[in-house]
Amino acid sequence: MDIDKLINQRKYTYDELKFIVDSYMNNTISDEKMTLFLKRVCKKGLSIKETIDLTDIYIKSGSVVDLSNVKFPTVDKHSTGGIGDKVSLIVGPIVAALDIAVPKMSGRGLGHTGGTIDKLESIEGFKVSLTNEEFINQVNDIGCAVISQTGNIVPADKKIYALRDVTGTVDSIPLIAASVMSKKIAAGADKILLEVTGGSGSFMESESRARVLAETMVNIGKMVDRETIAVITNMNQPLGKYCGNALETMEAIQTLKGKGESDVTYVCCVLGAYMLKLAGKGDDIVANMKLIQSKIDSKEGLKKFKELVERQGGDITVFDKPEQLMKARVKIPVEASESGYIYAIDAKNIGQAVVNIGGGRMKKEDSVDHYVGVEVLKKIGDEVSRGDILMYIHANNDEMARKQVEFLRNSYKYADSSIKKLTSK
Ligand code: URA
Repeated sequence: MDIDKLINQRKYTYDELKFIVDSYMNNTISDEKMTLFLKRVCKKGLSIKETIDLTDIYIKSGSVVDLSNVKFPTVDKHSTGGIGDKVSLIVGPIVAALDIAVPKMSGRGLGHTGGTIDKLESIEGFKVSLTNEEFINQVNDIGCAVISQTGNIVPADKKIYALRDVTGTVDSIPLIAASVMSKKIAAGADKILLEVTGGSGSFMESESRARVLAETMVNIGKMVDRETIAVITNMNQPLGKYCGNALETMEAIQTLKGKGESDVTYVCCVLGAYMLKLAGKGDDIVANMKLIQSKIDSKEGLKKFKELVERQGGDITVFDKPEQLMKARVKIPVEASESGYIYAIDAKNIGQAVVNIGGGRMKKEDSVDHYVGVEVLKKIGDEVSRGDILMYIHANNDEMARKQVEFLRNSYKYADSSIKKLTSK
């Protein structure tokens, strides 16, 4: 097949998509050429049939985890990415404390959004690659495990995801759907809960696009007999107070201690409630939410997270002193440029600023500074006076951080009259 001609085609057969993916996997085509294909998909889209084909091709690029030896019902959870979205770190252990197995394969940061694996790696010693046997044993022993997309699980998505991250080719419903669902299906769980973020900090800036993405993924789940529920969450501002890997891990621990921000706790209760429903523990979402909250109150979720960290080699002293994760060298304030009521925040800029100061990747090979990030003090609906501190930048490079101040200041918009506070409902 002629790859240049293929890339510019309007429609693709299964074999043609497979040829493109295989060619990239065996290095017959370069990053540049693959980027042309990805850009074409971002611009023109793919049909649902092509999206399902691409998902299948991704899955078959590697092996599939066999969870048949896991003793409990298995439910996986995945977010399509957000700013300050530390929900997986919180809800996974809580649900595991309710005798549901949560075997989780997670990704690293993508574009302006963070990834669960980078967050967990901010805990000294935390090991994100386990053998298949270790993964299953751990899920059987403690109910949860988190691994990165290592070994031979969906290697095509792994390689293409890293390329998309640095080539501006993340924002595409079929590419996101194939990427997420291939990983979830290959990771083997019986049921899948998707947190589909919509708003200025997510890849789907409008709720209607978030809905299309959610429906696409639920349809893919249906095609392969994996019951899938998608919950659309509001990402028009960062979730919680902290953005950045270690800072978010600290906030996750604080939330599990019952000291979390109300928006984070609320989203965790909703998503956890749907995970319980998927696991057959009851269809009453309000009752399920109360059960999730009770596992925060009783600290059983916290205990489970600690067990998970210990089992995967991480330093558990962070549970006694989560503030030790706040160790960036400088803390620079960003002040409000006007007085008024905050009516909008460009959350994507906050994620981008975290990347700019080293908290995410600009190139595939980049390493991440786990400790940098942003602490958000003012959110939508808050009244501020000119000069009030909106946020702090936590950074290790003073100059890099100062360059973000204006960018972040301009990410806030103000109104003269009061604005309703944003909930995550
Ligand atoms: N999360 C993923 O796993 N893949 C994407 O493409 C976007 C978010």
